Amino acid sequence: MSENEKVKRLAELRKQAELGGGKARIEKQHEKGKLTARERIDILLDKGSFNEIDAFVEHRSSAFGLEDKKVLGDGVVTGYGKINDRPVYVFSQDFTVFGGSLSETHAEKICKIMDLAMKNGIPVIGLNDSGGARIQEGVSSLGGYAEVFWRNSMASGVVPQISAVMGPCAGGAVYSPALTDFVYMVKDTSYMFVTGPNVVKTVTHEEVTSEDLGGASAHGTKSGVAHFTADNDAVCLHNIRDLMGYLPLNCEEKPPRKDGQKPDGAKAEKLDRLVPDNPNKPYDIKDVIDGVMDKDSFYEVHEHYADNIVVGFARLDGRSVGIVANQPLSLAGVLDIDASVKGARFVRFCDAFNIPLVVFEDVPGFLPGTDQEWGGIIKHGAKLLYAFCEATVPKMTVITRKAYGGAYDVMNSKHIRADYNVAWPTSEIAVMGTKGAVEIIFRKEIANADDPEAKQKELEDHYSEEFAHPYKAAARGFIDDVILPSETREKLISAFELCQNKVDSVPKRKHDNLPL
Ligand code: HXC
Repeated sequence: MSENEKVKRLAELRKQAELGGGKARIEKQHEKGKLTARERIDILLDKGSFNEIDAFVEHRSSAFGLEDKKVLGDGVVTGYGKINDRPVYVFSQDFTVFGGSLSETHAEKICKIMDLAMKNGIPVIGLNDSGGARIQEGVSSLGGYAEVFWRNSMASGVVPQISAVMGPCAGGAVYSPALTDFVYMVKDTSYMFVTGPNVVKTVTHEEVTSEDLGGASAHGTKSGVAHFTADNDAVCLHNIRDLMGYLPLNCEEKPPRKDGQKPDGAKAEKLDRLVPDNPNKPYDIKDVIDGVMDKDSFYEVHEHYADNIVVGFARLDGRSVGIVANQPLSLAGVLDIDASVKGARFVRFCDAFNIPLVVFEDVPGFLPGTDQEWGGIIKHGAKLLYAFCEATVPKMTVITRKAYGGAYDVMNSKHIRADYNVAWPTSEIAVMGTKGAVEIIFRKEIANADDPEAKQKELEDHYSEEFAHPYKAAARGFIDDVILPSETREKLISAFELCQNKVDSVPKRKHDNLPL
């Protein structure tokens, strides 16, 4: 073969690999409103930065006539590139090749980039669009999945792992995204479930569509499996690009710092008038976040799931921070099972990747009821408590209003080694709210009074004066300062400056035993 022919051969093979399952299947993919594996990578990565690995890999199977059906790349495009000039490894399943199903070699390609990512300390982004285990390969394919799961587990807390589910993801295949740090889903074109609608119908007699059972909306609002949902592939990929800007490349690094941006003037000004006098009147905790953090920097995680707690990334004077905030607009900001687990998972991610924590606290306590008790609020609430206790990143708390009962302790209190805890003058730090407290401790006095209503009012006023303020906690040093809302940003910025080289540790052990 002449040199010219050799070069031509390479060009032909590359072209062949790029076509995946062929034009007809690509068109079918587009008809479904989905992009191809390569189109997705093009949007995800900086222009021209993608370097493919293993484009010439083929499966080794010969069952069911597969020896005659080989497609270069074997249904997954893998390699590395850049997002805003920072490196990432990526795999993107190609539904046009055997429905993106996972063969032994397909799995080996994913494992190869995961091993490289671990060795080089670089995040992994997986774009999932697959019919699951390659049926013709039987247990070899199942073994391939397990190899990926093992690497997902080993990489957890070492490099950020991001999954986008952009098509089918069913059966055991769901466990790879589930083991990663953040799951994105695309509305109407993606679904995830352990067993599909047909099995569900046989076993439980429920009739449900794939979308209702495991679509983006189900997982973004009901199960919490999806942290983010997007209207289409392109929006999803742009959102992943934005997320990466808040994260370090690995657990040894600090997150990237950008130029600080003052918050929107009107939002910052509103802070001093935000908290209503009436403790039962709600306000939007996101107004607090927007008034304190850098302009337009809040990147919310789990926006539509357990919205009585708000979590997400933001920047404070250009530094990445993780926000955990009770939301008085939803269930008065009470902590329930879902909110506790959502908060705990987020706190642990931030701690694993050196992202400091800011808590905005307005919490009346834990949600009462048989649903909650029988559902295990004790063990789930313990997760949030545990996550804050074990976190060694700089961690700060701003109490905006209520900090009642056990929830006061849980929400990053001074006692569990928070670094800087402040309260606004509107805050009430106590075992419980005025009405409940008076009804318990003065029940007899109220019952025996000539005018029980007047007595109750008198005792409530007395209790409020005694406890419904931050100064008892300040007198004990349980909060470091009482500050005006409008002072919050500058106070937090200077506190973080001091903590930026904080060194703290947990006792030596094999691993912890977080309550599950
Ligand atoms: C081999 C597969 C495949 C699979 C799809 N294809 N799934 N080939 N193994 N698992 C092929 C089809 O034969 C077809 O090939 C092409 O991909 C597109 O599939 P269609 O069915 O035409 O597409 P669509 O109508 O969009 O339906 C997509 C689908 C369906 C819903 C994913 O294909 C399907 O139900 N597939 C099987 C899913 C499944 O049961 N997988 C195993 C799950 S168990 P041609 O040549 O016609 O284009 C599992 C365990 C994981 O995954 C283990 C972890 C522990």
